[in-house]
Amino acid sequence: MDLTRRNTFGMKVSCACYVEYDSLEDLFSLDLDGLPQPVFHMGAGSNLLFTRDWPGTVLHSCIKFLRPMGLEEDEVLVEVGAGAVFDSFVEWACSRGLWGAENLSLIPGEVGAAAVQNIGAYGVEAGDIIVRVNCFDRETREMVTFENADCRYGYRSSFFKEEGKGRYIITSVLFRLSRKYSPKLEYGGIRAALGGRQPMLPDDVRRAVSEIRRAKLPDPSETGSAGSFFKNPVISREHFERIEAEAGPDVRVPHFDTPEGVKVPAAWMIERCGLKGAQLGGAAVYDKQPLVIVNLTGQAAPEEVLALEQRIIAAVKERFGVELHPEVEHI
Ligand code: EPU
Repeated sequence: MDLTRRNTFGMKVSCACYVEYDSLEDLFSLDLDGLPQPVFHMGAGSNLLFTRDWPGTVLHSCIKFLRPMGLEEDEVLVEVGAGAVFDSFVEWACSRGLWGAENLSLIPGEVGAAAVQNIGAYGVEAGDIIVRVNCFDRETREMVTFENADCRYGYRSSFFKEEGKGRYIITSVLFRLSRKYSPKLEYGGIRAALGGRQPMLPDDVRRAVSEIRRAKLPDPSETGSAGSFFKNPVISREHFERIEAEAGPDVRVPHFDTPEGVKVPAAWMIERCGLKGAQLGGAAVYDKQPLVIVNLTGQAAPEEVLALEQRIIAAVKERFGVELHPEVEHI
């Protein structure tokens, strides 16, 4: 089956077998070991790069329910099926005046993948509002529940991406939202997009975030990409000070202090390497946000994206001594 329209990068690849299920009963009834191997479970295909045709089965969840579970004082718990579009959940929350998810507006992808990837934007990560994650265990064929702490959320990382990879199929996620006024506006761009006004409702923040995203990130319906291609690297303070010294007194090197070290935006380093807009075959470094690689012509081959990736990694390593790591999963 052709997967070109099932990966937002628009790579022209296919798989031997494609299976969708829309209920837990359906999932339990599948003989996963009897399907063409290997079996790869995907979401909306918005954070991955197919590097070649997939020889086995691609599995996809269509479990899409959204179920408010009740109230705990100011909090509302909502269980959402793994196959639901993440932004539909965010829109649902904002339209009901519930706080917590608004900064994650317009992120492409589905709920299950959001819980694997710990998607994040504008100072909030999915892990901040996830209470627990329900999964089907492929080994025991039983349902298991992971509480937030068991998910070991970090910057774009989780248990499901590491030790749990391949074993657990997320079926639904329980989120915690709040009725209490609690906007998170620390990310500078949000205040600017709000025009200096204090937001009244989650929808006000959603509009501001949407405005920033539309200005910086390619519209998935027009230009293929998988969002940020690299993670922002965290380096030691000494290393950062060397970069600062080399940049000279007139250049302000953007950075954020974290408990692990100094986070320096990869976008800034890629731009300083003169690679903003660089093209290699059909692939290009997006000219409005160099952290994104785009399928500029719509015809980019996986090899071209991979070659551009290597060129960027080599240039940043050479100039700054920093190793960039892809954020996009390579399949
Ligand atoms: N910058 C440049 N040149 C540019 C653009 C940005 O130098 O052309 C520098 C600026 O210093 C800017 C900094 O990079 O302040 C950060 O840029 P931006 O706010 O656009 O965020 P980012 O670090 O590039 C991360 C996430 C995005 C998320 C934004 C906002 C990662 C890998 N990416 O990008 O997530 O939307 O912050 O929170 O952490 C994604 O994961 O797919 C994604 C889009």
